[in-house]
Amino acid sequence: MRLFIKNIKQLIGTHSEDVHLVSGKDMDVLPMIEHAFLAVEDGRIVAFGAMEDWPGITDWRDLEVIDAEGKCVLPLWCDSHTHTVFAGTREGEFVDRINGLSYEEIAQRGGGILNSAAQMAKMSEEQLYAEALERAKNLIRMGTGALEIKSGYGLNPEAELKMLRVIKRLKEALPIPVKSSFLGAHALPPEYKGRKSEYVHLMMNEVLPKAIDEGLVDYVDIFTEEGYFDLDDTLAVLEAGKKYGLKAKIHVNQFNAIGGVKLAVDHGALSVDHLEVLTEADVAALKGSSTIPVALPSCSFFLGIPYTPVKPLIEAGLPLALATDYNPGSTPSGNMNFVVSLACIQMKMTPEAAVNAATINGAAAMELSEEVGSIALGKRANFMITKPMKSFHLMPYAFGENHISEVYVNGERFV
Ligand code: NIG
Ligand code: FE
Repeated sequence: MRLFIKNIKQLIGTHSEDVHLVSGKDMDVLPMIEHAFLAVEDGRIVAFGAMEDWPGITDWRDLEVIDAEGKCVLPLWCDSHTHTVFAGTREGEFVDRINGLSYEEIAQRGGGILNSAAQMAKMSEEQLYAEALERAKNLIRMGTGALEIKSGYGLNPEAELKMLRVIKRLKEALPIPVKSSFLGAHALPPEYKGRKSEYVHLMMNEVLPKAIDEGLVDYVDIFTEEGYFDLDDTLAVLEAGKKYGLKAKIHVNQFNAIGGVKLAVDHGALSVDHLEVLTEADVAALKGSSTIPVALPSCSFFLGIPYTPVKPLIEAGLPLALATDYNPGSTPSGNMNFVVSLACIQMKMTPEAAVNAATINGAAAMELSEEVGSIALGKRANFMITKPMKSFHLMPYAFGENHISEVYVNGERFV
């Protein structure tokens, strides 16, 4: 099956094959070709360029030609931080927050992550899978072409493994790459009150090896935060990951900076995610490291907490990635288009930087840059065709609108 898309108004994200992420002021540079073509064969990108350089079609066999006159083509979004597998919504807490309670106060009363864990305990693996599959397909319809999904609503061995098995089934069922992170240390279940180290020990020494044996884990994760898990717990997770050759992607600096960023960097974490609170020491620790900072602006939007400060990160020459944090508590939306809009509107990122952060850098935060995240020769033909627009800047500008007309995954039309 071959595909030829002609007359593309702007072909966006044409980084050369050897670019796996962009950093610092380079984030403002988004390579693109005006009035372009794109050719796909066997699910991969085989040629692209300006229409005037188009060699012409000699072989029409099995060829579909699409005229994208007036429309833009972008690589699909790469969402490197989600909790897409969950067992129910929490709109009750949403109303509680409207009435004045904070996210932390709700958690202290046994709501929050524990509320989701209680719902998780009641749901069968089959139903969990069916619901998560529909949710993930909906994400692809909104332009997501690579996805990380965490466990962390089980909070006991059986339920954590149930979540991880569901993620594995999603990997097999979905046409996009999916990465799985083990977040056993997401919140302390009440029965372990006063025995936090024992709980972390159980998760790292019993559940993690079992999950690895079943081929269920790509990364380890922990919620490093006051009232959740401290630096000793974080060290235990980082070391357990190292023991099994797994990198870490950690939740850190959402409400308080307690030194988790430096610890993660010192132990070679792949990414540090959230960073709504960021100190100079955190930025200094990240500088020159291989750890990718990940901002989750739709979490800031929903909870009304600060947005990750972009400026010090970019000025330090770092590569920022953007992700949704899709989950029932702090971000009940997995819409990367909205994340890109928020990055521009609230975090003052240029559209160029926001698209880089949501594509190539998101791919890097899942170690998928060789496969997805840009329009490059040999990569998966995962791209979206927009509705007609003067430039791709319309996408973040006209926020909350659906600007996507078609989504292609591995060269096949998804919607
Ligand atoms: O990334 N911060 C910790 N974990 C999730 C939210 C979990 C929840 O409230 O269900 C997050 O925001
Ligand atoms: Fe999260």
